[in-house]
Amino acid sequence: ESTWKNVLFIIADDLRTSLGCYGDSLAKSPNIDQLASKSQVFLNTFAQQAVCAPSRTSMLTSRRPDTTRLYDFNSYWRVHSGNYTTLPQYFKSQGYFTMSVGKVFHPGIASNMTDDYPYSWSIPAYHPPSFRYEKKKVCKGEDGKLHVNLLCAVNVAEQPGGTLPDLESVDEAVRLLKTRPNDGTPFFLAVGFHKPHIPFRIPQEYLSLYPLAQMTLATDPDVPERLPPVAYNPWMDLRKREDVQKLNISFPYGPIPKDFQLRIRQHYYAAVSYMDAQVGRLLSALGDLGLANNTMVVFTSDHGWSLGEHGEWAKYSNFDVTTRVPLILFVPRGTEVSNSAFPFIDVLSQPDLVELVDVFPTVAYLAGLKVPMYCPDISFQVELCTEGENRAYTSLQEQMERSSEDIAFSQYPRPADTPQENSDLPNLEDIKIMGYSLRTWDYRYTLWLGFNPKTFQVNVSDVHAGELYLLADDPDQDKNVYDDYMRKTANLPHVSWNSF
Ligand SMILES: *[C@@H]1O[C@H](CO)[C@@H](O)[C@H](O)[C@H]1NC(C)=O
Ligand SMILES: *[C@@H]1O[C@H](CO)[C@@H](O)[C@H](O)[C@H]1NC(C)=O
Ligand SMILES: *[C@@H]1O[C@H](CO)[C@@H](O)[C@H](O)[C@H]1NC(C)=O
Ligand SMILES: *[C@@H]1O[C@H](CO)[C@@H](O)[C@H](O)[C@H]1NC(C)=O
Repeated sequence: ESTWKNVLFIIADDLRTSLGCYGDSLAKSPNIDQLASKSQVFLNTFAQQAVCAPSRTSMLTSRRPDTTRLYDFNSYWRVHSGNYTTLPQYFKSQGYFTMSVGKVFHPGIASNMTDDYPYSWSIPAYHPPSFRYEKKKVCKGEDGKLHVNLLCAVNVAEQPGGTLPDLESVDEAVRLLKTRPNDGTPFFLAVGFHKPHIPFRIPQEYLSLYPLAQMTLATDPDVPERLPPVAYNPWMDLRKREDVQKLNISFPYGPIPKDFQLRIRQHYYAAVSYMDAQVGRLLSALGDLGLANNTMVVFTSDHGWSLGEHGEWAKYSNFDVTTRVPLILFVPRGTEVSNSAFPFIDVLSQPDLVELVDVFPTVAYLAGLKVPMYCPDISFQVELCTEGENRAYTSLQEQMERSSEDIAFSQYPRPADTPQENSDLPNLEDIKIMGYSLRTWDYRYTLWLGFNPKTFQVNVSDVHAGELYLLADDPDQDKNVYDDYMRKTANLPHVSWNSF
């Protein structure tokens, strides 16, 4: 039994790198930080598209959005693009008992209303019942009445059912850990937390960790002068909430009043700390059940979230604040498991540029499974392959030898050159422009290119706009120098867009 090599796969929703272990001095995330202190922490990990369903489908199939052909929420890859094997399905095929709790796949059409059961999971996926109240009038406003608000710090005892979704998910995950087959079958348990995704429906006590007087605005709270309008996302999902509607914020650029910006930031951080506490409950349960030394723990998120940087909120863009995510891999190294399939890895922070498509091959490798082959150029017919790479180092030597020419690719679709009501999340048939981003050590370079949603073809000669941020001078990506480069030198970085 000491050769068990279980996997606990934790995914947060809309969590950027606002964690202590990623150098955020405001964030209070003691449980994740403690996990990180024993783990490989990938400091520069990027989502392939900064919105839930496309990113989750991409990560879990290890295929880029141009291969899943999911840019919105409205198709299921097995019938829409290819019958791709998922990360949990691969573990299931290797004899694992696989379980899904909370939001792992994007629920709904994107996972055929079943979270891809039975392909990916041994038993049907669990969803916390109290999630049904998430968009209901459950937030007490300043008028004492109940509203559908963005800011929704609550007394949990007064909520319907007296609980919240992530609290229920941990209860269920612990129950599954206790009741799973106890015959030596290894498990792959995925737990998807709903926070810090909006609304910020969280236990009110977490607000006191972040007194408003200590909150600050984003250091770059204005829409950059030279931001192409196509790059801007108008954060419609915030505008729909009753408390935000009352502010009468102009479309598309706002801004949101400063005092309300501070409160959004306070609530986001409080939601992070609340989610962190649930991670702590889950990890404690692993320890209590004697599973801490034979269970690998993965912690990540589907994408980030703007907190007022560039005058923007929410996800839906190609900025680092929305594409960069935490990625933490804990591999137990107790003496009893030294002869198990878990290979030795150094506990190091990894500065490399890593992509969420790398998660599948890396986790497979660390569990001692064969890493799927790299996908051929056209892979719609190939069920099991990866468009990512195994990023686990087994030695310092390997780390030194690895090339530093990493690139992370992300993309975002738009319906038009200027912000529209559906710019955040256009349906496939409305997509006219695709913003392809490449992020290197030195710059982020994004081209917004004509896109045909019927043929999925990109027209590389139909350039709608460009962005180039030189990160040494402009780490926050506020000074777009694309036009300068075009005018002066026509010497932009050479990129083969066919490599997507
Ligand atoms: C898709 O893959 C699954 C698992 O390998 C298999 O059971 C199913 O028959 C496949 N479906 C199609 C349409 O090929
Ligand atoms: C999706 O769900 C429907 C309805 O349950 C089912 O008939 C169909 O076979 C599922 N698709 C796949 C690829 O399994
Ligand atoms: C909302 O803002 C618009 C212009 O931005 C203004 O004309 C209108 O009077 C405002 N309404 C309220 C209720 O403040
Ligand atoms: C692993 O955990 C079990 C149960 O807590 C314990 O009996 C065992 O000594 C642990 N092994 C190591 C190497 O820590």
